[in-house]
Amino acid sequence: MGTMISLKSLRVDYEDVNAVKDIDLEISAGQIYGLVGPNGAGKTSAIKAIAGILEPTYGEIKIAGHDLELEPREALRKLGYMPDFPPVYENLKVWEYLDVFAAAYLIPGAQRAGKVKHWLKKVSLSEKHDALIKDLSRGMRQRLILAKTLLPDPQVLILDEPASGLDPLARKQMRDILKEAAAEGKTILISSHILTELSEFCNAVGIMEKGELRVSGSIEEIRVRLGSHKRLTVRLASPTPANVDKVYHFLGNSKHCASMAKTEKQEINCLFTGSKEDAAWILTQLTLQETSIYDFTCVEDDVEDIFLKIGAKEVS
Ligand SMILES: Nc1ncnc2c1ncn2[C@@H]1O[C@H](COP(=O)(O)OP(=O)(O)O)[C@@H](O)[C@H]1O
Ligand SMILES: [Mg+2]
Repeated sequence: MGTMISLKSLRVDYEDVNAVKDIDLEISAGQIYGLVGPNGAGKTSAIKAIAGILEPTYGEIKIAGHDLELEPREALRKLGYMPDFPPVYENLKVWEYLDVFAAAYLIPGAQRAGKVKHWLKKVSLSEKHDALIKDLSRGMRQRLILAKTLLPDPQVLILDEPASGLDPLARKQMRDILKEAAAEGKTILISSHILTELSEFCNAVGIMEKGELRVSGSIEEIRVRLGSHKRLTVRLASPTPANVDKVYHFLGNSKHCASMAKTEKQEINCLFTGSKEDAAWILTQLTLQETSIYDFTCVEDDVEDIFLKIGAKEVS
């Protein structure tokens, strides 16, 4: 399968704004790639170029191996695109909306009703089959538009801030549908201006700022590149201000501990940058000092921690 989206020196200029600055990017088959960055970073401009609705200033875009400029039909046939502000037809019924697009995608008349039902079920809108679009909630509309995007069964899905403005439940429903699409083998590029929103289900991520892609890669690659940071938590059997302070200061003086914190429960937390041997040495020293330690735990960063870290390091 290999690379499903490939960008080489993609650049998008508006009259006096350089919105996307020579981006290189490869997204592999089966990846859920989260493009994250603050408003104005250039996400929508890059996505519109990849979706073939905005001609880039220069650069090469390939979708499933097809060059968008040289073989636009082949490239675009592989692609489903959901824009940030999709137009909807308020006075159509839900099923009519999908039926119109099914016809446009040349799905034969006899199969259309079945296809419409299938996709409505997939996005949990079966009971809204006959509702008017203007009576749907924002979350329902987004799911309807997602159903429309999925209708021709594209291999690559590109979604520009699909969860923006949704409540937590609607966001979860959107995520679950996308997870299922990924499990069925689709490659997904999804953008958000909220760093943590994508952390639960992306396996690759790019951080965009001022038109540049600052960090990009699989979560594993980024984990390695940032250095394997761990979070250390120490709990005392019978914490007193004196022994908690003693442990706190001992850790605070170590070059391997940073961002020291004390919780309300008198637990001590810090970012730990040392090796296993370094941790073992610290534990031995603390035990020799009779600090009554009963828990000493080092945990690797989870995806959300990594997101926050690359955000803190590279975006703000
Ligand atoms: N049609 C346009 N004409 C001129 N400038 C634009 C246009 N669209 C976007 N921009 C500018 O390009 C930059 C990137 O915008 P955009 O791609 O929408 O970023 P994002 O989606 O990350 O918020 C911003 O400075 C924005 O003001
Ligand atoms: Mg945008």
